[in-house]
Amino acid sequence: MNHLSERLYLYPVWIRIWHMTNAFLCLVLILTGLSIQFSNPGTVVKFNAAVSVHNIAGIILTISYGVFFIGNLFTSNGTYYVIPVKGFIVRLQKQFIYYTIGIFKKEDAPFPVSTETKFNPLQQVTYVVLMYGFIPFVILSGWGLLYPEITVKSFFGFSGLDLTDLLHIVAGFTVSIIMCVHVYFCTIGKNPTSNFKSMINGYHESH
Ligand code: HEM
Repeated sequence: MNHLSERLYLYPVWIRIWHMTNAFLCLVLILTGLSIQFSNPGTVVKFNAAVSVHNIAGIILTISYGVFFIGNLFTSNGTYYVIPVKGFIVRLQKQFIYYTIGIFKKEDAPFPVSTETKFNPLQQVTYVVLMYGFIPFVILSGWGLLYPEITVKSFFGFSGLDLTDLLHIVAGFTVSIIMCVHVYFCTIGKNPTSNFKSMINGYHESH
């Protein structure tokens, strides 16, 4: 086992600012989204206020997503989101076995963090699906609800707006669940708070 503690600069300033903005906006969107979904006269955030804040946060999230997308396109951070197909399932299995068995036996991580591999295979697939699947989908469907006139009128006999609404809610709930799992996994670092500190100072701490 490697007992040498190592600090790697993995989170450049723009990623940290994007991530904090994104996390804050997602929390606001979840809170206001739930207030809209389960609206009743006693709800903590009033319906009209919840809708206005949800719309504004959604618009800012679109801009912040644009920063992430363009940043990943033009900086080396984007390379961490490219999944090498060859042997990927085997790598995924190894990481899964580590998270369910190896970690409790204090075994070494199969894919230690390095400047070449910032994410382990499970993180990689989660971040790719989240950032290039669910988040753009939630954003696009949100714009479709904000401007119903641009939304398809009917889809195989169903109302396009109702379908967009349903898909937006399902995707929004999915992102909320992924976020809870993401925050839990962030506690599995050198110590329970070290990964959170990484997103503040930019340095990842290895064991
Ligand atoms: C309170 C909420 C959140 C906290 C405390 C949090 C915490 C963290 C931490 C500590 C990391 C660095 C460790 C790692 O690379 O896994 C990280 C990375 C990341 N998080 Fe979060 N996160 C939150 C919300 C979110 C949300 C809502 C999203 C996306 C919708 C997100 C997407 C990401 C991505 C894509 C990375 C990797 C960034 C990169 O280095 O390219 N996070 N998060």
